[in-house]
Amino acid sequence: VRGFWDALLGRLQVRPPDPLFDALDNRWLVYQTLACRLWSKAGSYQAGGAFGFRDQLQDAMAFALTDPPRLRAQILVNAARQFPEGDVQHWWHMPGGAGVRTHFSDDLLWLPYASAHYVEVTGDASLLDEMVGFIEGPGIPEGAEDAYYAPQNSGRMATVFDHGARAIDRSLKTGVHGLPLMGTGDWNDGMNRVGHEGRGESVWLAWFLCSVVERFAPLAQARGEHERAARWTAARTGWIAALHDAGWDGAWFRRAFFDNGAPLGSSANDECRIDLIAQAWSVLSGASDDAHTGPAMAAVKKHLHDEPAGLLRLLAPPFARSANHPGYIQAYPPGVRENGGQYSHGAVWAQMAQALQGDHQAAWRSFEGLSPAHRAMHPGRGPAYELEPYVMAGDIYGAAPYVGRGGWSWYTGSAAWLHRAAVETLLGLRVRGRMLSLTPRVPAHWPGFEIALRLGQRRLTLQWGAPDAAATPTHHAAIGEWVDW
Ligand code: GLC
Repeated sequence: VRGFWDALLGRLQVRPPDPLFDALDNRWLVYQTLACRLWSKAGSYQAGGAFGFRDQLQDAMAFALTDPPRLRAQILVNAARQFPEGDVQHWWHMPGGAGVRTHFSDDLLWLPYASAHYVEVTGDASLLDEMVGFIEGPGIPEGAEDAYYAPQNSGRMATVFDHGARAIDRSLKTGVHGLPLMGTGDWNDGMNRVGHEGRGESVWLAWFLCSVVERFAPLAQARGEHERAARWTAARTGWIAALHDAGWDGAWFRRAFFDNGAPLGSSANDECRIDLIAQAWSVLSGASDDAHTGPAMAAVKKHLHDEPAGLLRLLAPPFARSANHPGYIQAYPPGVRENGGQYSHGAVWAQMAQALQGDHQAAWRSFEGLSPAHRAMHPGRGPAYELEPYVMAGDIYGAAPYVGRGGWSWYTGSAAWLHRAAVETLLGLRVRGRMLSLTPRVPAHWPGFEIALRLGQRRLTLQWGAPDAAATPTHHAAIGEWVDW
């Protein structure tokens, strides 16, 4: 067992000047992702055991560099849970495959997103030619939110490329504001009634779709699917225009529009006036501009950041009695889980956005607020936290009287994302096929760091020492072919 973990973890080892960062980044975040999320699919508070479509793809993406066959295999597993119509099971149980067919609007899109990531990082486009089957079964009955059953094998097969392309083709419909339809939820599971009648629109989903198309359209081009790529790219132009028109609230991005056309995540709302992921993804998608992302991220600091408690709330103020009912998120107590707590998964995205924007100090403060080790060691925050210092918590409560208390630990996709945030965003290590680059975005007090990386049979050591200024030059190196299994 020790040998297994040493071999896996040994492929990427960082020597940072911070022992807590060291413990998390080099050991625990990866352990949590693999042992709890991908293997056991359960935690103390969720003894589920189901495969989650979007969750496992995101978790597996954390292995793109250190264990690419794992990501490849996960993509094949997920592609096989798609219906020929393009939608997918939100979650399912093996070996029978019983699971839930839903109107969630983002699940299916993680398939092309993760596939494109795999190809970009490894340079191995053969994944896209793998043939994978579809499942089939009845649609969701009129008026129902979902349908739970064990689907049949359809007997039909398609390439992984085609599976991903179907997911995008199915997601191009827009609503009256020109934004994609939210269905019974996008990434936020609890917002299941914002667009359940089929008219509500999602700002976050529009950012996400922009990222998906930006990465997947070139793969379509390379396969001669020019018409499809042009259709997606035209749709992307439309979403970007809508995002900066109806999606813009004046000082930040809105979160969504309800079925009845009312905005969510707007200064016009009493509850959920601003939502974190609609701002974070304006940066992560690269589909906006400084004139908008600047104010949007400043609004995050002003309205969602709790300095003394070290929290980045998912939204504020929490839902309690909104007449436009957003869904079961409103049933959570204010400040708990998605309802205005620091929801770690979303908060990591915001932390990455801060770093990418060049606010390295804010990004480091957010890292310390997310890291269970830094939080547990903190003289003020530690005693309130009450959870293990070595695993991520799904959420940290954001409202009195429990500000700063950890919610549920272990079973959270934030471990995979925090690992990626640490390695790819803070240390700034990027491998894209045969090119490697390093763009450190570490805090000013770090004198430097070292990365020992094993790529295929090759071992690389990267050393970085802080330059005089806070500038972040990017260092490039050609590394040649490294995918050699
Ligand atoms: C939970 C779910 C994940 C979802 C998130 C936000 O972590 O597992 O699928 O995206 O909550 O609601």
